[in-house]
Amino acid sequence: MCSLKELILTLSILAVFNFGPANSDNKMKNFCYYTNWSNQLQSFDAKFQIKDINVTLCTHLIYAFANIDSENLKLVPSLRDDDNGQLVNQRGKYFDFNRLKIEHPELVTLLSVGGAAAKNGGFIQVVQSERNMKLFSRNVAVFLRDRDFDGIDIDWEWPGDIYRDKFTELLQIMWDEFVKEAVRTSKPRLIISIAVAVGETTIAESYDIKNISQHVDFIQVMTYDFHGPWSDVTSFTAPLFSRASNHRFNQQLSQAWAMDRWISGGAPRHKLLMGLTGVANTFILENTSSTEVGSPVLGAGRAGPYMAKDGRTTYYRVCEMIRNGAIHHWDDEQKMAYALLDDQWIGYGNPKSMEEKVKFAYSRNIAGMMFWSMELDDFHGKFCNVGKYPLLTAIHKAIIEHAPKDTSGFPAASTTPTPSTTPIDFNLHHKTNKNGINFYDMSDDSSQISLTFTSLFLALLCFVLV
Ligand SMILES: *[C@@H]1O[C@H](CO)[C@@H](O)[C@H](O)[C@H]1NC(C)=O
Ligand SMILES: *[C@@H]1O[C@H](CO)[C@@H](O)[C@H](O)[C@H]1NC(C)=O
Ligand SMILES: *[C@@H]1O[C@H](CO)[C@@H](O)[C@H](O)[C@H]1NC(C)=O
Ligand SMILES: *[C@@H]1O[C@H](CO)[C@@H](O)[C@H](O)[C@H]1NC(C)=O
Repeated sequence: MCSLKELILTLSILAVFNFGPANSDNKMKNFCYYTNWSNQLQSFDAKFQIKDINVTLCTHLIYAFANIDSENLKLVPSLRDDDNGQLVNQRGKYFDFNRLKIEHPELVTLLSVGGAAAKNGGFIQVVQSERNMKLFSRNVAVFLRDRDFDGIDIDWEWPGDIYRDKFTELLQIMWDEFVKEAVRTSKPRLIISIAVAVGETTIAESYDIKNISQHVDFIQVMTYDFHGPWSDVTSFTAPLFSRASNHRFNQQLSQAWAMDRWISGGAPRHKLLMGLTGVANTFILENTSSTEVGSPVLGAGRAGPYMAKDGRTTYYRVCEMIRNGAIHHWDDEQKMAYALLDDQWIGYGNPKSMEEKVKFAYSRNIAGMMFWSMELDDFHGKFCNVGKYPLLTAIHKAIIEHAPKDTSGFPAASTTPTPSTTPIDFNLHHKTNKNGINFYDMSDDSSQISLTFTSLFLALLCFVLV
């Protein structure tokens, strides 16, 4: 029935599609946070709308935050403009957000629950019993599907030692429920991502790293807030490296230390994301002649015009201060920048800093980056004079530029065909073929994969029949 010619043809089709612009999903990821309060900001320049999002700069978009209705064990929008509770007319920001996928079908969206302000809010009730965890997980799945989110981002700050095992159990139950739900609905499984801490004490108390790693797709390490308004010397919120030159600095306070801590603790590299931020921190200098990193401060900087918070400001505000005469410097030791304006000291990550961090992420072979949050970048391009989104653009460019040569571009210059038995990496795209069968896709184009499977099937058939 099968001629040798057909067999060869089949096998070559198989080879071609394994060679093609494959593995584009192995590309480094960039998760971008959208905050529910960013469209409520008072200043016209600060106000961020969903239409301001540039989807090209992010592989995943995360909507922060939804809340937990702890009585009914389900998710609830934080405000009515997120979602007015009527699915029929699909009105609200959740729907606007997910409609971005119409023009960008490769985009993945997640809904984040919890956050720093929510603290333990609702999670404690959810983990009271196995039944609660199951019910919550099922409700989450329905809530996400009805609004076209692709998954959840759990941002519980923090489980602590009391809820450490409960947190592990919750993730395991939710994972199992999402697997079952995917089979039931013939849809790609919903994604589970978690946002986690960087401090040694919190890590040790809150996370059974090896166990939770089995039941999540992504671990977003919130590698920022290492220093802030509470610090007594000038210092950076998100330094890439610790300040080895100054022994008075805690050497555990850096992005590199925290990522390595998660890696050595057993988190799989292909699930790890490193947090970047557009938050700058500001201090009032004690002595305007002593301006180095590590100089004494009187306290947090005065609240600025856009982000009315003492000790913190946005990247675009830093650009504005530089335009108004602030002197800026690069700190090569920690790969961060700082600017001085009178008695104000502002530490921030600039585009160069973002590039260094992407290079670091490649050096650790992790899944990618996460950016908190889009409205903190110069998204209008009004302040920094280098176009829209200088920080996210720097990240996007660095991801492309510093990609290892043998896996970037296409076709991949590999000498041996990728065997069709390549272990399936479960953190990759989940898709459903036309027969409703769920599978995990290594490429962006599902038609290629189904063709590969078809070819494989034909080839096997030929072998059997020959
Ligand atoms: C945003 O979400 C948080 C957390 O759910 C909530 O407390 C806050 O009121 C929301 N703010 C706006 C402006 O939607
Ligand atoms: C979005 O970002 C990409 C990559 O930097 C850029 O080419 C494109 O022009 C941007 N789109 C808009 C609408 O600004
Ligand atoms: C860790 O994972 C295993 C297998 O999934 C599970 O049986 C076990 O109970 C978990 N341990 C804890 C402490 O949750
Ligand atoms: C301020 O700093 C300069 C330079 O480090 C130092 O020479 C000077 O003594 C300091 N002044 C005070 C009042 O501490």
